[in-house]
Amino acid sequence: MSEQPRPLTVLNLLAMKRAGTKIVSLTAYDALMARMLDASGVDVILVGDSVNQVVAGRPSTLSATLDQMIYHGRAVQGAVRRGLVVVDLPFLTYQVTPEEAIRNAGRVLQETGAAAVKLEGGVPMGPTIRALVDRGIPVMGHVGLTPQSVHALGGYRVQGRDQAAADRLLADARAIEEAGAFSVVLELVPSSLARTVTQSLTIPTIGIGAGPDCDGQVLVLPDMLGMNSGFSPKFLKRYADLDTDIRAAVSAYGAEVRSGAYPDPEHSFE
Ligand code: KIV
Repeated sequence: MSEQPRPLTVLNLLAMKRAGTKIVSLTAYDALMARMLDASGVDVILVGDSVNQVVAGRPSTLSATLDQMIYHGRAVQGAVRRGLVVVDLPFLTYQVTPEEAIRNAGRVLQETGAAAVKLEGGVPMGPTIRALVDRGIPVMGHVGLTPQSVHALGGYRVQGRDQAAADRLLADARAIEEAGAFSVVLELVPSSLARTVTQSLTIPTIGIGAGPDCDGQVLVLPDMLGMNSGFSPKFLKRYADLDTDIRAAVSAYGAEVRSGAYPDPEHSFE
């Protein structure tokens, strides 16, 4: 009988940072993909609110709902045996009061089975992160480009470029660590600043567009699989060209259905 892999915990991630072992993270929104990521050794499987753009086709993450995140979180967690599943808290489910944040994050853990939530923001979110952690809800922070604040930030642009902004970002990351978060995402941050933040914290940093010195990296799965050919930010490396492959496969299927070549006897029942 093959042994079940032991699920990773937030403590394992802290140990990975101490050991200098890079943390591999990708987003997943459904069971099929989550199973493949888990079998491929992805450490942190993030049910990002990017699902609202990538899957639901909305222009930003702002309209994602808690029920939507719970639906996708449950699908992903059900397929994962080893990876640590983290579910994004959507806009306005944690910013109003710490009490609401506890209730909503608690629902996510209860109804999905996931081990942790992620929320955006630095110093102002400290008390909320502390309230969640004190109730036994592990929190991953997220600073730099925080997509739920896209309107306030004036677009999806690199953050922390001048000294004052860099100082604020470092203070944000430190506040998240002090509040008890187990990890923090650094999104669209200059490499040198991400290195400084990573060296200043004892919790692991997970970078996206934040250079090579973070403790781990995360990408949005359909982007790195080349399924989203219209989206080409500088930091994105495509590891496959599924856009081309899927179009070719669907065209081939269409041609065979139209010509009558499919289904042939091999794919039919006598
Ligand atoms: O929603 C998401 O997918 C994310 C990642 C980009 C970090 O927050």
